[in-house]
Amino acid sequence: MTMPVWQASRMPDETPPAVGSYQRRLPVSLARVWENVLDWEHLPWLHSQAFLDIALIEASAAGWRARVGLPPAERRSEIELELVVEREAGRYVARTLSGPGAGTEIWTSLDPTEEHETGVHVSFHVPGVPAAQAERVGAGFATLYRGLWDQDEAMMCRRSEWLARPRPGPESAKPLSLGTEASLRARLPVVVEWGGRPFRIVDDGGVLRVHAAWCPHALGPLEAAPLVDGAVRCPWHGYAFDIDTRKCREHPALRLASAPQLDVDAQTGNATLRAPEAERA
Ligand code: FES
Ligand SMILES: [Fe+2]
Repeated sequence: MTMPVWQASRMPDETPPAVGSYQRRLPVSLARVWENVLDWEHLPWLHSQAFLDIALIEASAAGWRARVGLPPAERRSEIELELVVEREAGRYVARTLSGPGAGTEIWTSLDPTEEHETGVHVSFHVPGVPAAQAERVGAGFATLYRGLWDQDEAMMCRRSEWLARPRPGPESAKPLSLGTEASLRARLPVVVEWGGRPFRIVDDGGVLRVHAAWCPHALGPLEAAPLVDGAVRCPWHGYAFDIDTRKCREHPALRLASAPQLDVDAQTGNATLRAPEAERA
């Protein structure tokens, strides 16, 4: 990995001294990482261990500012956090403007080492830390950031993989036999590939239902999302989708992809996934 970019372009003089740093290589493109950096909404969902909630104040391509709730829930504290992107310099800073840790600045430099690999170097600048405690505080930040980047990496890798998938052609939407209804019910919930995409079959109050297992917002994973009150909630940004209407409860214009129809043969009891009748017509 090359030297952090801020060694060439200086930080502001008021930036507190560094107490530690963290670096890693991510197996994703720089574009995926910038997308993740500007995605303020995922904080309390993907990183629920570190953030309780978020209320956006403003956002643009240059960054975002928000009020962020911190755990533990029974003693919730709040910070105002701003993230400022210096895209040309390949770096961004997250500043705590108010609340616990006010004045902290986390500088991150991004270094695209290959088309699908990005180096990340993070530097933790915390005001008022006595020299004797700097190493311990720096190590705490490094542990926190390792966990956050682990989660971000999984999210970015899934998005990369999905975005690289070829669009399934109509020939891939062939009927798929799932055995008898009884054997299918014994395996629920189950994820099956149909038409080149994953769908999940669930038991919704005794009724077998099929729903798309990817989120239409940003391709988040719905294959393991619990079914609660007829809806699945995406773990990336917390949007809930009614699996009957397919509509997103928070953003009704957003809908799950239409699912194949599950037919059960009255004679044999065999279950088959096939294109919905309207589409076959
Ligand atoms: S990917 Fe954002 S809510 Fe699912
Ligand atoms: Fe993140």
